[in-house]
Amino acid sequence: MSFLKIESLEFKYPKGPTILSIPHLSLEEGQGLFLYGPSGHGKSTLLNLIAGVLAVTSGEISIGETKLHQLSAGKKDKWRGDNLGYVFQQFNLIPYLSIFENIMLPCQFSKERKLKTSDKEIHELIERMNLSSFIHRPVKDLSIGQQQRVALCRALVGKPKLLLADEPTSALDEKNTTELMNLLKEERAKNQLTTIFVSHDLRLKPYFDIHHSLVDLNQSKLSDSKMEAQNV
Ligand SMILES: Nc1ncnc2c1ncn2[C@@H]1O[C@H](COP(=O)(O)OP(=O)(O)O)[C@@H](O)[C@H]1O
Ligand SMILES: [Mg+2]
Repeated sequence: MSFLKIESLEFKYPKGPTILSIPHLSLEEGQGLFLYGPSGHGKSTLLNLIAGVLAVTSGEISIGETKLHQLSAGKKDKWRGDNLGYVFQQFNLIPYLSIFENIMLPCQFSKERKLKTSDKEIHELIERMNLSSFIHRPVKDLSIGQQQRVALCRALVGKPKLLLADEPTSALDEKNTTELMNLLKEERAKNQLTTIFVSHDLRLKPYFDIHHSLVDLNQSKLSDSKMEAQNV
């Protein structure tokens, strides 16, 4: 049975056109999906649907035993807190909190996550991410590459079942990108972590098992009109 299953998904923002129309997408546990596509093609929207931040207009999203499209907003929040790691393009760290405090944030929102980790494990993760020397420093004083590694630690804390990453390397230079991608690959392998990574940067493809173009996957008119606009 697939770990993640999307069937007949349709999504539109209120009063807008249909942005996404995805007949089928599935992923086995532990697989890493690289979903690529130019800006404005619904990559962030799709991740927000899979995270349960947005609700599908119609269709189904199942993750493990959970039918996300059937949960109430409150239950979705709890499910997200317990099961999901999310790395954002702009990190979304809290600037005046230390590395350690930022990494521990998901455990404050989820008892389940807190129970699945320990101080020892968190320190080991910080060590693997080469962040040990700065652990009590406010994150605003770190380099961009270090901040994104903190964001990755925060997403991984408490062993989430699913990791979503929304263009997490777009603010990084090549050296920091390579470092982050290698660390991500190691952590994924260690924990059999199912991952969906979206980006417009095709150089990142080799780090993942499965690759899909969102333009091909998406049957909505958005794909056609945007592509035509680009070809003019
Ligand atoms: N909150 C919103 N309300 C209305 N339209 C939106 C909203 N967010 C994004 N969109 C539109 O949805 C489309 C896809 O956006 P997005 O998912 O951010 O694409 P990507 O992440 O691939 O750049 C774009 O046309 C964008 O203008
Ligand atoms: Mg986006």
